[in-house]
Amino acid sequence: MSADRIFFNEVVTRDGFQNEPTFVETADKVALIDALSDCGYAKIEVTAFVSPKAIPMLRDADEVMARIQRREGVVYTVLVPNMRGAERAIEARADELNLVMSVSQTHNLANLRMPRERSFEVLREVVRQVNGAVPINVSLSTAFGCPMEGPVAPEEVLDWAQRFAGIGVQGLTLCDTTGMAHPNQVRALADAALASLGHLELTFHFHNTRGMGLANLLAAVQAGIGRFDGSLGGLGGCPYAPGATGNICSEDALHMLQAMGLQTGVDLERLLVLARALPHIVGRPVPGQVAQAGRSCDLHPVPDAVLALHSA
Ligand code: COA
Ligand code: ZN
Repeated sequence: MSADRIFFNEVVTRDGFQNEPTFVETADKVALIDALSDCGYAKIEVTAFVSPKAIPMLRDADEVMARIQRREGVVYTVLVPNMRGAERAIEARADELNLVMSVSQTHNLANLRMPRERSFEVLREVVRQVNGAVPINVSLSTAFGCPMEGPVAPEEVLDWAQRFAGIGVQGLTLCDTTGMAHPNQVRALADAALASLGHLELTFHFHNTRGMGLANLLAAVQAGIGRFDGSLGGLGGCPYAPGATGNICSEDALHMLQAMGLQTGVDLERLLVLARALPHIVGRPVPGQVAQAGRSCDLHPVPDAVLALHSA
């Protein structure tokens, strides 16, 4: 049974920008986040408190968090891989910590430079130290496949999810880091996650690497998942996952959900203005389609020749 209210999280200034080759100025990041805050999102993933050597694009995370205008009702979350990141996030008054590790050992070693068990120990200590001061979400990367190891067993995903549920986290995000998931797989994992972890806030995070992003979103919605990540313009990708490309495009996804009559709370018209300005910020065209085509309700004028036929 599908949820009738969808909560949508914008990740463009984190997942989106981390894969861009050219540094986006701090002022541009802050202005974009402030404008996104006026669009009706449930949550905005502002940045990542990771090593500036690992992700130079987000080296200004502390400053960005200090300069954004917070809007009531929007949760400002940040990605955190370790204790140092958690300390910085608390110092920056993040509303939520989004802890990250991969289900695939190889991707965890590539991305976080430690084995999964070590990540879990580190993150468990973060949860213990935070001690309920702010809500904690855990993003499990490569939950639908690893670009180096191949298939990832759903049992393994659920096992890691249960371990985090067992230490008291509030939310879990299952991430298809390199767009390997297909709709039947999404449906099966969504059903299983809702059955055993339905008491947590469950979010699905898709990439459109192989064109299956919106089909996967639909499969998850039909299973009853009500929270999704997306990136303005369809930017995104993990620099430590070979072949990674953009997230599902927020405005395309929201356009689809709204066309289907689902409530998202997002002002699509306002968002499209930002999507159309995005190529100027990143200095290149972006993959999103609705910003180019217009909404399906934005009609074109009838050609004069056709008008003449009408009135004939
Ligand atoms: N914030 C800022 N700096 C940090 C940091 C954090 N959260 N964690 C570590 N560092 C710094 C250390 O202070 C140290 O600095 P120094 O070289 O100036 O002394 C350096 O990074 C290395 O620290 P170390 O603990 O040895 O980390 P590492 O080199 O083993 O890398 C991670 C581990 C997790 C910090 C790093 O791999 C990382 O940030 N990965 C995130 C990648 C990412 O964001 N991917 C995309 C999103 S999924
Ligand atoms: Zn991602």
